[in-house]
Amino acid sequence: MPRGEADGEGRSVSRRAVLGGAGAGLAVGAVGGVWGGRASAAAPAPAPAPVGLGAGRVAFHGVRQGGIVEAGQAWVEWVAFDLLPAAGRSGLVTLLRGWSAAAERMAAGEPVEQGENQIALDAGPSSLTVTFGFGATLFDKTGLANRRPEQLAALPAFPGDALDPARSDGDLWVQVGADDALVAVHAVRVLRRLAAGLAAPRWQMSGFARTPGAAARPVTGRNLMGQIDGTNNPKPSDPDFAAKVFATGPGWLDGGSYVVLRRIRMLLDDWENLPTDRQERLVGRRKRDGAPLSGGPDAGEHTAVDLAATNPDGTLAIAPDAHVRVAAPSVNGGAAMLRRGFSFHEGLLPDGSPDAGLLFAAFQADPARGFVPVQQRLARGDGLFRFLRHEASALFAVPPGAPAGGYVGQPLLEG
Ligand code: HEM
Repeated sequence: MPRGEADGEGRSVSRRAVLGGAGAGLAVGAVGGVWGGRASAAAPAPAPAPVGLGAGRVAFHGVRQGGIVEAGQAWVEWVAFDLLPAAGRSGLVTLLRGWSAAAERMAAGEPVEQGENQIALDAGPSSLTVTFGFGATLFDKTGLANRRPEQLAALPAFPGDALDPARSDGDLWVQVGADDALVAVHAVRVLRRLAAGLAAPRWQMSGFARTPGAAARPVTGRNLMGQIDGTNNPKPSDPDFAAKVFATGPGWLDGGSYVVLRRIRMLLDDWENLPTDRQERLVGRRKRDGAPLSGGPDAGEHTAVDLAATNPDGTLAIAPDAHVRVAAPSVNGGAAMLRRGFSFHEGLLPDGSPDAGLLFAAFQADPARGFVPVQQRLARGDGLFRFLRHEASALFAVPPGAPAGGYVGQPLLEG
């Protein structure tokens, strides 16, 4: 779904509506006039209301949390936190209440009440979303073990996993996405300060995706292997979209989701040494336009994949180890998930190769009917696999959105 379009959940404010509607520019980016919640003589002059990309706005409150169905923004920060031993359940309530209030203001482009650091001062909300998730360990630390859903059990070990525990798991997950990196980092800094004395950061990862407007028309994004990635995702307009992506219980999680995160490093130097036609066979789609190799020269990105199609020599058009064959719902008992990944490139490893790849994120109604069976097959039979290293992993329950005046997780903590 193009970012900012109404998502049918009564939450988003359309970027087009903001830009094109009466009062454009008034609804967002109201930075100034208030400074850290107080009028101040030292406050900088109000910045002009942003237009264009900066004006994009996704309301924080609503039936669903933001950062799931909206298209991935240009920049993302993932931060996992562990609750400090003294915090307990009341500390978690304080934290989530404070985080939700700050996220609401930042999503509206307003300065926060506490800890405003001016990093985003000149920018509008830039389609900022803040998404909160709960890890399995959070429930023991807050006396809520009996309310932990069984779907939040640890993921199984997969063949080839090389997971770094220091960059995996966590009690809490915060995803901050925005079309401006400074806006995203501003939010992370604010949320981190609000966590002081309650929760400590465990790991943090930064990712990026195509900046809206960089291409001549809205197109599916590409990953660092150069492939169009995201074509066969479930679409919000699909009749079974909610059943695939959103959980139906327990009560506090009804309408929420489960997210699986994987830091997947790509062996890009090796990958780029492969001729393009071999790269395409390993995925099952053309690089140029994402068309399935089963569709012939006239196929396009959205031509349906035909796993039974053959080449003139009788071989399968989509090879037995092609990624799209091994990952397809039809060969995984219908397993489906909404992939919403970002690229990362964090400099060089000691051997000079790039520390780069995909921050893979998949939202689903139940990981045992989504990520787990697919990854089990990919780890054994995916042609891409020898160019990938799974280095970190986490699973979080993502509660539904909070209504205005409430905070994310309130039904669990106060229900
Ligand atoms: C760095 C690692 C990965 C890369 C580069 C990658 C790349 C791609 C590409 C290019 C496509 C085809 C376009 C599309 O439909 O989106 C695709 C499809 C898909 N991928 Fe991946 N992928 C990766 C990891 C994963 C993982 C870990 C999973 C799940 C365990 C996964 C599940 C899927 C699924 C379900 C599809 C759609 C298959 C279909 O129905 O046609 N991918 N991926």
